[in-house]
Amino acid sequence: MDIRKLLTIIGMSVLVTSCDSGAVSTESSFATDSAAQAAAAGISHGEYVARLGNCVACHSIPEGEPLAGGLKMAVPMLGNLYTTNITPDPETGIGDYSFEEFDRAMRFGVKKDGQRMYPAMPYPSYAKMSEQDMRALYDFFMTEIEPVNQPNQAAEIPGWKDNARLAMGIWNLLTMDDEPYVADSNQSDEWNRGAYLVQGLGHCGACHTPRGLLQQEKGLDEGDSSYLAGAPLDHWSASSLNGDFNSGLGRWTEEEVAEFLGTGHNRFGTAFGTMVEVVNNSTQHMSDVDLIAMAVYLKSLPPVAEVNATPWNYEGGTTENLLALEFNAPGSQDYYEYCSNCHGTDGMGYYPYQPPLAGNPVIMDPDPSSLINITLNGSLRVIAEQGPDVNDMPYFRQLLSDAEIADVLTYIRSAWGHKGSAVSTAQVTEVREASDPSRNDDIFTLRMK
Ligand code: HEC
Ligand code: HEC
Ligand code: HEC
Repeated sequence: MDIRKLLTIIGMSVLVTSCDSGAVSTESSFATDSAAQAAAAGISHGEYVARLGNCVACHSIPEGEPLAGGLKMAVPMLGNLYTTNITPDPETGIGDYSFEEFDRAMRFGVKKDGQRMYPAMPYPSYAKMSEQDMRALYDFFMTEIEPVNQPNQAAEIPGWKDNARLAMGIWNLLTMDDEPYVADSNQSDEWNRGAYLVQGLGHCGACHTPRGLLQQEKGLDEGDSSYLAGAPLDHWSASSLNGDFNSGLGRWTEEEVAEFLGTGHNRFGTAFGTMVEVVNNSTQHMSDVDLIAMAVYLKSLPPVAEVNATPWNYEGGTTENLLALEFNAPGSQDYYEYCSNCHGTDGMGYYPYQPPLAGNPVIMDPDPSSLINITLNGSLRVIAEQGPDVNDMPYFRQLLSDAEIADVLTYIRSAWGHKGSAVSTAQVTEVREASDPSRNDDIFTLRMK
């Protein structure tokens, strides 16, 4: 039997047993009420919604109390701000928020005191949340989280610039679709559930969708071809999640997408950079039904940039040259000495411990930022509850110069049949300077080793 059908049946049966009020129709509640999937994952409805929304990733710092805030985030052109304490402490947290005030903060980005928030808080995505999920989330914060008394840190944004907050109301009008998710009756329940999660709580577009002039995401759903088409963020590239064959998810099956989100890896690659936070804190806690639903939705996105591109095909000449110790191509000797132990002379890695580079969509990403960043700085480890612990990618910041890193990456991007663009020394220098671990002014630098 098709595993998807099986999972759907299990999911539906949980849904039917837990949905005894009969007030909500099964169809719409499957897509937009997370209670049944929370039960399948063995946690409360509200905690599950908090996992889906990944509140902890932004509202915590590694050495601090969970959800007490304090993470520095950059607001383009304005400065930095700190995430706030969202534990139910009445003095420094959100203990005084009524449900209506909480709902307004989550959907419209307005704090209890009326101050407008910057969209560093992904309220344009959370606006799609259903009322059931919003209520469960509120109850979770008010009753299941311990209050922590920790004052918020003031933003490092000059006062006159901080007046931009006032303009956020207009920004919202111009850029947001603030309606809760409405199921598309032409699509399956599974697709709708996936759309609800990806567009809404999962706020995948906050990283994976390119931004426009007003810093708004260029598309908020599949109706726009920029939606999830890949975007730069914090010197990583959140690569394309559409159907592009080489650099998107075109070659992945639904099961392989679900495996990546649930465990942090599959036969194409391993989560790294800022995606590690997503897997560690959010997607690995989702039920199998929800992982497959997201995969079904993502796999319905058509190819965009590569409609006429030549499909990638494995070419073995690279491996033959490496094994014959023929290092004519710049970067090939460094690859052999520093990388092939783990990623293989055949580029196939050692699944699931070390990812392949051959055929890995991120290697063919038009934007090489992620490749540069991981080679300079290594990556946080995926801590998956299921599946084996993979090894870490070491950092080469001290060992290799910018020119050497540019060469080795250019080499990989044209090895084994890849047709990726060259990486320049200047591109490496830029990421090296911006991600200097001693500078600490980039939120994600803080979390790198
Ligand atoms: C991508 C980072 C990010 C994520 C994920 C995130 N937040 Fe936030 N949140 C912020 C930032 C930044 C602010 C402060 C915005 C400002 O001051 O303009 C904030 C502010 C808030 C506030 C206003 C609190 C106050 O001080 O009055 C609430 C409530 C809130 N977030 C709840 C949540 C919940 C619940 C989740 C999970 C469903 C969540 N946030 C996920 C970044 C995030
Ligand atoms: C000790 C083993 C090891 C060595 C040596 C190594 N890597 Fe990695 N690499 C990994 C692991 C493990 C990952 C998966 C990400 C993680 O968990 O840190 C990875 C990930 C990557 C990725 C991202 C691909 C993905 O899907 O995760 C790139 C690109 C990469 N390595 C390039 C290189 C380059 C270039 C070199 C040589 C300069 C190199 N690696 C050397 C272990 C290694
Ligand atoms: C905080 C930023 C961020 C968020 C939020 C985010 N991603 Fe990612 N994602 C990345 C980055 C950076 C990469 C590239 C590194 C890698 O492949 O792991 C990535 C890679 C991926 C990949 C692998 C793509 C490939 O070709 O190898 C998938 C699949 C993915 N993300 C799905 C999702 C989904 C689904 C969501 C929403 C639930 C999501 N991401 C939310 C940053 C993010």
